[in-house]
Amino acid sequence: MFKPGILGTGHYVPEKIITNFDLEKMVDTSDEWIRTRTGIEQRRQAAQNEYTSDMGVNAAKKAIKNANLDLKDIDLVITATITGDYPWPSTATVIANKLGLSDVPAFDISAACSGFIYGLKLASSLIRSGDFKNILLIASEKLSAITDYTDRNTCVLLGDGAGAVIIGRTDNGEILSTVIHSDGSKLDLLYQPGGGCVNPASEETVKNRMHYLKMNGAEVFKLAVEKMPEVLEKALNNANVKPEQVDFVIFHQANIRIINNIAKRFNWPEEKNIVNIQKYGNTSAATIPIALSEAIEQGRIKKGNIIALSAFGAGLTWAGAVIKL
Ligand code: ACO
Repeated sequence: MFKPGILGTGHYVPEKIITNFDLEKMVDTSDEWIRTRTGIEQRRQAAQNEYTSDMGVNAAKKAIKNANLDLKDIDLVITATITGDYPWPSTATVIANKLGLSDVPAFDISAACSGFIYGLKLASSLIRSGDFKNILLIASEKLSAITDYTDRNTCVLLGDGAGAVIIGRTDNGEILSTVIHSDGSKLDLLYQPGGGCVNPASEETVKNRMHYLKMNGAEVFKLAVEKMPEVLEKALNNANVKPEQVDFVIFHQANIRIINNIAKRFNWPEEKNIVNIQKYGNTSAATIPIALSEAIEQGRIKKGNIIALSAFGAGLTWAGAVIKL
């Protein structure tokens, strides 16, 4: 059995910034409402010809470099995304090709905002089993492609970006625990109704704006504040780590009120809580690896630190993890 750990991290966000004031010109909203109800001040938006795969490639290159590895060392590519370049094939194969990786297995995970932690679970098991040595796990989202910029309930929340990690064999850090859950009975609280085989693309699906993300925010909020602490508790227990032993926590960046509410329940002070929602909004699967990579780059999170992660999103899915860097 090999010990799985994070060998390197990287992230990428597009250049273009959309501020709350920009959104005031598009829908009936205000900077004040968005900041106080969500914590978001701005978000990034990919260029028209900049795709989920391109952002993933940029994040991946940094992660490979930071892990002191070469491309040839990567033996599996996993991408967590709900906004792939195409409905099929997987964006992981597109990323592998753009990186110049040939004949490396590659596939996607669809678990929305929990996708990165689902990926951590899978990748750490595959490292433990000895089947793979260095797995490139990417979470990349171009949510602007499925955002309805006439719907104030959702368009103020979402942004684009990518994060990546290399999971490999190590004796230093360790992915101590990963816990994943789902409940498909509440699918319609958060989903994209059009484009699948239930509602294939037609004039009518386009007219009815069915290719955009739809969310019942209030219901999702209630479930997120219930399920995220539950799954965190399980992840901490499985890792045999007490809340006070945690150096940093990274929550899925969906709403500052959700984040602060849960941090308070675990008695985690502000300094332990890595928050970047104000800059990037909700980038779905990418929020956690972007925040992790950014905090490492800033020298805030260091080797040896214990980090707790928790996410909640469409599916519904929710997940928690504890890692030692
Ligand atoms: N600007 C101004 N007013 C707004 C806006 C806006 N952008 N959006 C909603 N409102 C209004 C509503 O219309 C409503 O008005 P009404 O009372 O006249 O009907 C009022 O504000 C309150 O609406 P609520 O939905 O109750 O507002 P709430 O405080 O719940 O905040 C929010 C909404 C931010 C969406 C919140 O519910 C939330 O963060 N939900 C969870 C999001 C989440 O965790 N998503 C999971 C991951 S996302 C993914 O998987 C991609």
